[in-house]
Amino acid sequence: MTDRGYALVTGASSGIGAAIALELAGRGWPVIITARRRARLAALAERIGAEHPVDVKIFEQDLALPGAGQKLFDAVVEADLPVQILVNNAGFGLQARFVDQQMADIERMIRLNVLALTELTLCFARPMVAAGRGRIMQVASAAAFLPSPYVAAYAASKHYVKAFGEAIRFELRRTGVSVTTLYPGITRTEFNAVADAKTPPLMNLSILSAEAVARIGVKAMLKGKRAVVPGIINKLNAFFSEVFHRGFITHAAGSLLEDANDH
Ligand SMILES: NC(=O)c1ccc[n+]([C@@H]2O[C@H](COP(=O)([O-])OP(=O)(O)OC[C@H]3O[C@@H](n4cnc5c(N)ncnc54)[C@H](OP(=O)(O)O)[C@@H]3O)[C@@H](O)[C@H]2O)c1
Repeated sequence: MTDRGYALVTGASSGIGAAIALELAGRGWPVIITARRRARLAALAERIGAEHPVDVKIFEQDLALPGAGQKLFDAVVEADLPVQILVNNAGFGLQARFVDQQMADIERMIRLNVLALTELTLCFARPMVAAGRGRIMQVASAAAFLPSPYVAAYAASKHYVKAFGEAIRFELRRTGVSVTTLYPGITRTEFNAVADAKTPPLMNLSILSAEAVARIGVKAMLKGKRAVVPGIINKLNAFFSEVFHRGFITHAAGSLLEDANDH
């Protein structure tokens, strides 16, 4: 891609999003970084500015608010910043028995993981299609491959991302706009603390750094790949989750997390 527009990365104040913004800046892309914590975004912008000769813009936005995707899009248009890459990374999880979770938390999660991602895709894909070029990355999860007891609503939100991303990829295939879905497994970020997640030792075998996930994801997105699962254990998990009987897979996943979460 020549004559580059900006790469907009949501959830760029920590973890995989911050690593993706750094990876893209390292490859020469000017970046728009967005999240709620302005100080964290400012620190990242300073680091990018020190390490890479690209422009960085900060937009502070709570994407779990109704209409927040459109609001962010309007602000970016108002600032006259053409976006050529959209990375829908912002998201969080909730880990506990479903009946012990609070509806307000679940609603906030679905607003962010599902609605904001959908709204941002709709807003930014339209000008990309009109321009005949663009790259979109949807950050799903290894949890998108199987029903996952104790993270039931979170996993379901990522099933949406999987189905949505892979379907619109087909619709856009002749427009010059590609859609890549990234399926990280357990990654060393603030995610587990936010989700209050207790991961059994077996699941930690597949753990990767945010930088490794970002590198693999960005490479696949720039090549216009359909889907990317970082790490060999995560690839095996994805494969077996899709070929084994659903009931067996759900039981296996549930049993792994049961001890950590049952009261
Ligand atoms: N880490 C893992 O094990 C793992 C595994 C599979 C998939 N994922 C997915 O990877 C993505 C990134 O997660 P991560 O692991 O990097 O977690 P993280 O370190 O907790 O980062 C989450 C990012 O999302 C932003 N965010 C949270 N709520 C927001 C809101 N209401 N509005 C705007 N931004 C919000 C956070 O920024 P602010 O708090 O500043 O708003 C932060 O930048 C998520 O979609 C997650 O589901 C993670």
